[in-house]
Amino acid sequence: MNLILLGPPGAGKGTQAKKMIDALQIPQISTGDILRAAVKEGTEMGIEAKKYMDAGGLVPDSVVIGIIDDRLKEDDCIKGFILDGFPRTVDQAASLTDMLDKAGRKIDHVVSIEVPDADLLARLTGRWMCTCGASFHKIFNPSKVDGICDLCGAKLYQRDDDKEAAIKVRLENYHNQTAPLIDFYSSKSLLRSIPGTGSPDEIYAAIMAVVNG
Ligand code: AP5
Repeated sequence: MNLILLGPPGAGKGTQAKKMIDALQIPQISTGDILRAAVKEGTEMGIEAKKYMDAGGLVPDSVVIGIIDDRLKEDDCIKGFILDGFPRTVDQAASLTDMLDKAGRKIDHVVSIEVPDADLLARLTGRWMCTCGASFHKIFNPSKVDGICDLCGAKLYQRDDDKEAAIKVRLENYHNQTAPLIDFYSSKSLLRSIPGTGSPDEIYAAIMAVVNG
């Protein structure tokens, strides 16, 4: 099962991918997580990517396409994968098609999670993250102890790009550069649109209904 989760910043792609991993037994591949790990490690790629990410911009296609090309060749992707945050431009989508063609593989479903911009701002400004990968929201999914991760007890932090100015740029980039992928995948009969405004469990059920056909 080869899946793409498409949607604007804060749509719930990461939240849903984490719920799907166990059910489908395939890995989540988040370009955002991979880039943030590179930033934390201080690699050359991470230092370069940080400049774009902090401002809410997109990291150059050549960088993220290279990341995905390498990642999809790893053993845990043999049974499938959940792409979260890639592709984000038409050039990235075309490169993905080429990579999969060469490997004799194809995308099964592109799940587009649809949430109005007005809701996205509240989701992103209220998000609190943990270095263990857990994600909380001060209103919609609060941790039991304020500022502390329920899973590992570490102190929660806010992402640098979850500031209002960067969110505005991220939303503009989504509408200008990523939303065209809706038509791109629709024309290939791969697009499945899901309303992303219910509870995470309701949205998960809708996605699994699509995925299980
Ligand atoms: P990335 O990490 O991919 O960020 P994003 O796409 O902006 O997505 P988010 O992680 O912000 O949101 P999400 O949809 O996963 O929502 P979440 O589940 O966390 O990318 C970051 C940056 O890296 C980019 O800006 C770019 O610079 C770079 N980058 C990454 N990929 C790239 C690429 N392919 N090309 C170029 N550059 C790239 O949920 C958000 C919040 O809402 C959480 O607090 C959650 O608890 C809450 N929430 C979730 N679901 C619900 C619900 N149903 N109701 C209420 N609250 C909810």
